[in-house]
Amino acid sequence: MNKIATKVTDQMDFFEGNDPVALAKQYGTPVYVYNERILRERCRDLKNLVTYPKFVVDYSAKANCNLAFLQIVKSEGLEVDAMSPGEIFMERKAGFAPEEIFYICNNVSAEEMQYAIDAGVHISVDSLSQLEQFGQIAPGHEVAVRFNPGVGAGHHEKVVTAGKKTKFGIEPKYIPEVKALLEKYDLKLIGINQHIGSLFMTGEAFVASIAALFEIAKQFPGLKFVDMGGGFGIPYKKEFDEAPLDLKELGEAIDKALYKFAEEYGEQITLRIEPGRYISAECSLILSEVHSVKHNHEKKFVGCDCGFNVLQRPIMYDSYHGIEVYRGSDVKSEQTETVTVVGNICESGDILAKDRELPEIRKGDILGILDAGAYGFTMASNYNNRLRPAEILIRENGEVVLIREREVLEDLLRHQIALKNV
Ligand code: LLP
Repeated sequence: MNKIATKVTDQMDFFEGNDPVALAKQYGTPVYVYNERILRERCRDLKNLVTYPKFVVDYSAKANCNLAFLQIVKSEGLEVDAMSPGEIFMERKAGFAPEEIFYICNNVSAEEMQYAIDAGVHISVDSLSQLEQFGQIAPGHEVAVRFNPGVGAGHHEKVVTAGKKTKFGIEPKYIPEVKALLEKYDLKLIGINQHIGSLFMTGEAFVASIAALFEIAKQFPGLKFVDMGGGFGIPYKKEFDEAPLDLKELGEAIDKALYKFAEEYGEQITLRIEPGRYISAECSLILSEVHSVKHNHEKKFVGCDCGFNVLQRPIMYDSYHGIEVYRGSDVKSEQTETVTVVGNICESGDILAKDRELPEIRKGDILGILDAGAYGFTMASNYNNRLRPAEILIRENGEVVLIREREVLEDLLRHQIALKNV
């Protein structure tokens, strides 16, 4: 195998001795590849973030909800959040106990709330009207409430989930109304939570937001937990040596805030975070085959089989993903050139990397699209009636196992009902 540009995966020993070209051949492309060791390391990074004793990491399963993946997260002693009955269902299948699941819903029906109540999980609601609905269907029940601390952060305006421009959370000025509803329906407030947004690379906003959240918490004695949310970022521009989040510095700042809060609150209650991306992004890449290389006017296009049905982040948020090139033949190529890497979907926006400087890419080469484990497969679709890809896992001993089969054409017909007469 002639590896052409593999700085990132080599440094991480991502393939654990396996050949990406051989994996692409054996499992077909596109395929999501996960590395178990890296996933476990990321779980441990966050479990050890602080010294505060009652600290719980809830993995945010919306980032990646694969069953085998969840089983590994569970075995690392993390708990989970959920955003839908589907996520609760998967988490129960992966072995999480109901009390290890925190359902943080947004604008859901009474039936959905009832599903969560019946499942026995902790539930957070994030508006006065949803609190009223909860009280009506489950008077006397335990509940948590999501507040908007007024501080937001994130890599794109679409993923900032606190502050003035978002639908999420209850403004602190409505605390009297929250208290009135809790009393009206005899609800027991067990926790409060927030999530300021997704992907911060420095901790200021997060630390400011937890200070604001703790001020809110102090107005509610008797809480069992406060959940500070997720958003911990990862460096997507690794080939340019983008620095990772300084977990030591951030951990120390958070730790200080946690102890201070516990002292002021008068009790060391459970304090939680709910990271998705940090845990799941870096342990995965997509292998995709190049099927055409062409010039169109001034641009050189590299066309591969990873369309935005497979990875939506670039078209949705203009997100950057590093790309490596693997080649089966022993032809060496040191040259680089500027290319635009595109998928196979019938939209011009189907671009994985625009005007990117990459080693010379040829038809038949295999691309590695890096850091794809968070919001990758979970956002994949059947657009253009394409099949959602397989997922494989490189175990810690280097063995490769299939953890999701590639869809087949018949899957496209599932749940469709043909007319009897036309
Ligand atoms: N908790 C709540 C309530 C959330 O809404 C989210 C993410 C998280 C935790 C986890 O955030 P994380 O630690 O992963 O940043 N699809 C977008 C990201 C959307 C995030 C939605 N909420 C992307 O690909 O960048």
